[in-house]
Amino acid sequence: MGASDAADQELTDAVRAGYAFEGAVLELGGLLLGADRLAGVPVRIPLAMLTRHGLIAGATGTGKTRTLQLLVEQLSAQGVPVFAADIKGDLSGLAQPGEPSEKLTARAATLGQQWTATGFPVEFYAIGGVGSGLPLRVTMSAFGPTLLSKVLGLNETQESSLGLVFHYADRAGLPLLDLADLRAVVAHLLSDDGKAELKELGGLSSATAGVILRELIGLEDQGGDVFFGEPELDTADLLQVAPDGRGLVSLVELPQLQDRPAIFSTFLMWLLADLFHELPEVGDVDKPKLVFFFDEAHLLFADASKAFLDQVAQTVRLIRSKGVGVFFVTQGPTDVPEAVLAQLGSRVQHQLRAHTPNDAKALKATVATYPTSGYADLGAVLTGLGIGEAIVTVMDERGAPTPVAWTRLRAPESRMDPCDPDLVAATVAASPRAGKYQATLDRESAREILAGRLENGAAKQADEAPPRDPATEHVPVPKAPRKSSSKSSSKSSSKQDDTVVEQVVKSAAFKDFMRTAAREIARGVFKTGRR
Ligand SMILES: Nc1ncnc2c1ncn2[C@@H]1O[C@H](COP(=O)(O)OP(=O)(O)OP(=O)(O)O)[C@@H](O)[C@H]1O
Ligand SMILES: [Mg+2]
Repeated sequence: MGASDAADQELTDAVRAGYAFEGAVLELGGLLLGADRLAGVPVRIPLAMLTRHGLIAGATGTGKTRTLQLLVEQLSAQGVPVFAADIKGDLSGLAQPGEPSEKLTARAATLGQQWTATGFPVEFYAIGGVGSGLPLRVTMSAFGPTLLSKVLGLNETQESSLGLVFHYADRAGLPLLDLADLRAVVAHLLSDDGKAELKELGGLSSATAGVILRELIGLEDQGGDVFFGEPELDTADLLQVAPDGRGLVSLVELPQLQDRPAIFSTFLMWLLADLFHELPEVGDVDKPKLVFFFDEAHLLFADASKAFLDQVAQTVRLIRSKGVGVFFVTQGPTDVPEAVLAQLGSRVQHQLRAHTPNDAKALKATVATYPTSGYADLGAVLTGLGIGEAIVTVMDERGAPTPVAWTRLRAPESRMDPCDPDLVAATVAASPRAGKYQATLDRESAREILAGRLENGAAKQADEAPPRDPATEHVPVPKAPRKSSSKSSSKSSSKQDDTVVEQVVKSAAFKDFMRTAAREIARGVFKTGRR
């Protein structure tokens, strides 16, 4: 026993020293020496090191989401805005105080946690407006060809062809706002009218354009069109602090994605890339500007091309200097490519299973990602972890890894069940951003412009034919904004509102022009090489 006591003491001392930070921290929990033996030593992450990113991994049901929840709570409490995907709706409870239970109080007590039921300031979003949150959309031109290729499952040749289509649209002054716009442009290039332009583009065969068109139609059939359009998310809205000084927690709810899991992960990737473009360089910060939790991260990496993975790795590496921290949440660290994994400073590894030969392989690979640990058999520790326990290592304030520590995690202080739907609805309705995102805009864009040209062409041909009734002559009609979203309060089609919308439309058109030009230069890491 003496030897193991000495080993315990050594580990306790190492962890105590390794996790004694000077600046602000997020408390993760306490060091465990055995199944129910706490050492009375806290395990934590320095707030300043959150921009060195992190990983939360573990088999299903082992406590990943609760770990995420307690990190989010403490970030918000310290005034740091958070963005997180809420796949199963089980993070929405962040908006409500938790319900005390014997289990929770017992867990908290063993960790010296002063557990106080607390709700946090939450903004609810829903990608494409499918769900109860504020609709989150992106314009097609901002999304760009690289990410769209990932969604469509295009191969490399097709991807560069799609890049040419975007390029053509930019040059031809055909704004790509939604999926219909892109479809119209591809269809135009395939039509008799567009043949010459297609040829001029070079490098885009009509066969490939045909494949792209089919894929776009497929995406639309699966409801993928709702993601694209206006109003586009303004990333500044994710960087908000509530009036009481706590960081706003933006949760994005996800619609049924079984058919197209890639769209959700690429959407999150777009957000990250957009944040990267929009935010100023700040270098290393004591307090992050935003922490971004990337749940179900394996979806992002599955079947991705090397170019795509390189771009993800590059974005993750560079976004640190903008003060943004990224946490990937996934079942196994082996889901995350080496180049990304190497950049994740904090690791919270929940239980891994070893039931199947594949599990065993993944376990071995996971153990190999910990170059040093004080545990003789880390694999046995990993498979023996209880729920709400994890193997933790973080980056200390000097940028060195802390000792690997078997940790019992704190209990979240907000609700662990989904938020009351009435509260979600009330929060959405009362949001200062509700008006901005709930209106659907449909400005004149590629689809309308091309349709207009076609009509004009037809009219011209008709002019050369028998005379027509002047009453039916085509008059170009300025496009009215499309119906506002079915959700927004709908007695708003008054004249007055229309003029307001028209004003916005006009200035937005100008802004879009400017922005397209800027994006030409700065769409940045996710833009395919332009010629
Ligand atoms: N830190 C914790 N404090 C209190 N209870 C916890 C904690 N971690 C886990 N639990 C308990 O374990 C349950 C499962 O945890 P959680 O939902 O976080 O698992 P998960 O790893 O996210 O699972 P999945 O992969 O299915 O999403 C929780 O509902 C909760 O009851
Ligand atoms: Mg979960």
